[in-house]
Amino acid sequence: MTKKTGLELANKSSYHAGIPTLRPFIKDKMAEYGLSHIAHLATNESQYPPSPKVLQAMQEAMLTVNLYPDPSATLLRRKLAHIYKLKENMLIIGNGADELLYMIGKAFIENGDNAITSTPCYPTDIIAIESMGGIVRAIPYRSDFCYDLEAILNTIDEKTKIILLCTPANPSSVAIEKKELDAFMQKVPANILIVMDEAYKEFVTDKNAADPIIYLTEERNIIFLRTFSKYYGLAGLRIGYVLAPEHIINILQRAMPSFSVNSIAQAGALAALDDNLYYDDILQKIIAERNFLTNGLLDAGMKPVKNSQANFLFVNTCHVPSSIFAETLFAAGISILEKKFGEYKEYVRIAVGTREQNESIITIAKDLCRKYKK
Ligand SMILES: Cc1ncc(COP(=O)(O)O)c(C=O)c1O
Repeated sequence: MTKKTGLELANKSSYHAGIPTLRPFIKDKMAEYGLSHIAHLATNESQYPPSPKVLQAMQEAMLTVNLYPDPSATLLRRKLAHIYKLKENMLIIGNGADELLYMIGKAFIENGDNAITSTPCYPTDIIAIESMGGIVRAIPYRSDFCYDLEAILNTIDEKTKIILLCTPANPSSVAIEKKELDAFMQKVPANILIVMDEAYKEFVTDKNAADPIIYLTEERNIIFLRTFSKYYGLAGLRIGYVLAPEHIINILQRAMPSFSVNSIAQAGALAALDDNLYYDDILQKIIAERNFLTNGLLDAGMKPVKNSQANFLFVNTCHVPSSIFAETLFAAGISILEKKFGEYKEYVRIAVGTREQNESIITIAKDLCRKYKK
């Protein structure tokens, strides 16, 4: 028997999408810079600890990790169904919204189908489609950083299976306006599956922003994606959920792995839903800090996209090369994201930090802007 090389095996695989190398380990880069601590502002995580109620629930759940978790996450589905006034079979819990995106691709995309979205976007939006042999039709943002919903409608053809809308969008931070979404939903053909990625939903404060959940009806082909990673600050637990009409859930359910959500995550998420006071208080801090960081960066001479509705800012670094800004921040113990946004070369994405972190960012932005101003 002749041995197959890795390349031969890979060429036979339909799985051509995805990130080809392991991602660098942040602690290795910290060691290079002689850092013992870093502020993680590159992946839109919460900067605040979980609520004491969540910690206690997780500790209790640890005592039964000899047993498999409930594969249907029944208690969590029940609780969410109660909160949203939905039937229990209109929900699926997954190992983060990320896993659920892959499952959407797996359940609905066949070779040659296409999905339309706006770019730059969350990378899994693309991988989930391409890994199933689908094609992504990427529509650029409008000049005001909003989704070009007209252009998305004009791109639909007979092979379009999915339209993926992220609101507020990553990385732009902009939310779709209500009147624009209403007009879009009236025109979009009923056979297309609309996937609304609402990972940052809880941070929306703009009264004109759409509240897409009103479109969750039995008749529509629609999926809402939510996560416990951002507002509830449970990114390390890996837990998110889908809200959708029953006929969509029935198909999606077939693609789900058996035990993807562990029992500690289920217990933690359930307890988080019972501690609104704790999370509302953090939300107020994040909103105040979002304004503080936006104004500070504007004052420094950079241009954050206006009216962020998320827990992060998308920032044009203007005179300062984005790589210099990111490296200088890293050396000062703050990690942000840059070089990942296609045509937006001189942009970085920064999660809203604590007051102390934000003050450091603004001070460094001011120093660099002074240095690089022509
Ligand atoms: C737009 C968007 N969707 C989905 C996710 C995935 O979230 P989760 O942590 O639940 O996998 C992210 C994470 O950053 C995101 O930005």
